[in-house]
Amino acid sequence: MLLDGKRLLITGVLDPRSIAFFVAKVAQEQGAEIVLTGFGRGMRLTQRAADRLPETPDILELDVTQPEHLTAVAAQLDERWGRLDGVLHAIGFAPASCLGGGFLDAPWEDVATALHVSTYSYAALGRSLADLLAVDGGSIVGLDFDAQIAWPGYDWMGVAKAGLESANRYLARDLGPRGIRVNLVAAGPLHTMAARSIDGFGDFESVWQERAPLGWDLRDPEPVARTVCALLSDWMPAVTGEIVHVDGGVHAVGAGVPDDVVTPAED
Ligand SMILES: NC(=O)c1ccc[n+]([C@@H]2O[C@H](COP(=O)([O-])OP(=O)(O)OC[C@H]3O[C@@H](n4cnc5c(N)ncnc54)[C@H](O)[C@@H]3O)[C@@H](O)[C@H]2O)c1
Repeated sequence: MLLDGKRLLITGVLDPRSIAFFVAKVAQEQGAEIVLTGFGRGMRLTQRAADRLPETPDILELDVTQPEHLTAVAAQLDERWGRLDGVLHAIGFAPASCLGGGFLDAPWEDVATALHVSTYSYAALGRSLADLLAVDGGSIVGLDFDAQIAWPGYDWMGVAKAGLESANRYLARDLGPRGIRVNLVAAGPLHTMAARSIDGFGDFESVWQERAPLGWDLRDPEPVARTVCALLSDWMPAVTGEIVHVDGGVHAVGAGVPDDVVTPAED
């Protein structure tokens, strides 16, 4: 199996719609041993979701903005396994002021929260787990939403994702010499709890329905999960600093241009 014998940490399982839930499921089906992390009041939901996996994994508490949580998670994994083969970062959050058209009005405190949770935490998690991942070579995977254009309503989360894409390259540069690969999967839109907080998410839905060459099912995170598992496996050994788009092909054809741009001028 693809992930036979792999020991993986999977963050970001909030409920059975979470992208990370599907990664956990596919990883177990492919032979991996996994541990989840849960966050704050969502821990109870994470426990309920964990019970629905093929095997119920343990859950460690991790608020990724708390350095002592990061240290404790690394220590617990060291005690349990003495090494780590891979980690999924599936964490994102932005206060309401940062989404849904609030770009020019969002206060710095809110923007700072969005960047702390959604961007800086990727590097912080990588740093805290680097020693364990370096034991036998490892793979870090994060979840991105294509940050090349200014999407309707995505606002500061888009800026956070652009930062994540850059952090991915720097992390790949700094951890590569220790045998650690670092990659992002840029997913198309999926109906999860995080997506529900984005005012204007429906706009993404119509773009993907109209533009995706392969088609796109917003209720099926499994294609994203499979790609994450491929990156966590030994089958992409020379790939790092990369962004793999799992979006039905929308990134290749563009999100579409307004009618007035494509309508030929009358002479
Ligand atoms: N749903 C989409 O359309 C989509 C598309 C592309 C990328 N993504 C990204 O996928 C990732 C997972 O999101 P999802 O869509 O599965 O939604 P989700 O709501 O199921 O997952 C978001 C997770 O972030 C966690 N989180 C928030 N703040 C945290 C903190 N301080 N410490 C630790 N964990 C924290 C939540 O507990 C939750 O598990 C996010 O990075 C998101 O931006 C989502």
